Amino acid sequence: MLKIGILEGSLRSASLSRAAARATASLLPDGAQAVALPNPGTLPLFNQDVLDAGMPDTVASLMSQVEGIDALLIVTPEYNWSIPGGLKNAIDWLSRKNPSPLAHKPVSIWSVSPGLLGGARVHESLRQTLLSQDMIVMAKPEVQIAGAIGKLDVDAGATTNPETEAFLRGHLSAFTAFCNTWTAT
Ligand code: FNR
Repeated sequence: MLKIGILEGSLRSASLSRAAARATASLLPDGAQAVALPNPGTLPLFNQDVLDAGMPDTVASLMSQVEGIDALLIVTPEYNWSIPGGLKNAIDWLSRKNPSPLAHKPVSIWSVSPGLLGGARVHESLRQTLLSQDMIVMAKPEVQIAGAIGKLDVDAGATTNPETEAFLRGHLSAFTAFCNTWTAT
């Protein structure tokens, strides 16, 4: 069974992107399983002094959970055309282990926005950061959920739009195939 860790980029409770992240559990094809990772909001702000004093328990827990997955899917909003600070902070913490638990794992990005561009600009900056971790980034197909209000049920953590649901299912099938190609080598 391919274990795909789901990492959320938003910290807020009524998050649209979290709804999309939670929807993955029922949209993955046979042979793949969604593993919900701790939300970045559970982590302290990265500070080398904190690390030098000992890895915080919340960070150690995220590290070991990332070590246990085969691949990563990041579902995030775009903040000011870039990566939300909490998500970048989580990646910065993960990067402090040698070898990084992110290294050599396939990864894909979903962006979610109420706006018309669907958070398209976060892909480029996030891809750059993930490449710095030697992650294997699936560049295409891309997922940008634009106009997300009305396409997602925040309370249920589900899609409410059949076209969106079909598109996300197709993406998860493509990503699973991509992961299986890399994890088989
Ligand atoms: C935003 N938002 C936003 N949207 C977008 O499409 N491009 C952007 O650059 C930004 N920038 C931005 C910065 C900050 C600080 C905030 C708080 C918001 C709007 C954002 O997409 C919207 O608030 C989403 O609903 C946030 O995602 P969640 O929390 O619903 O998952």
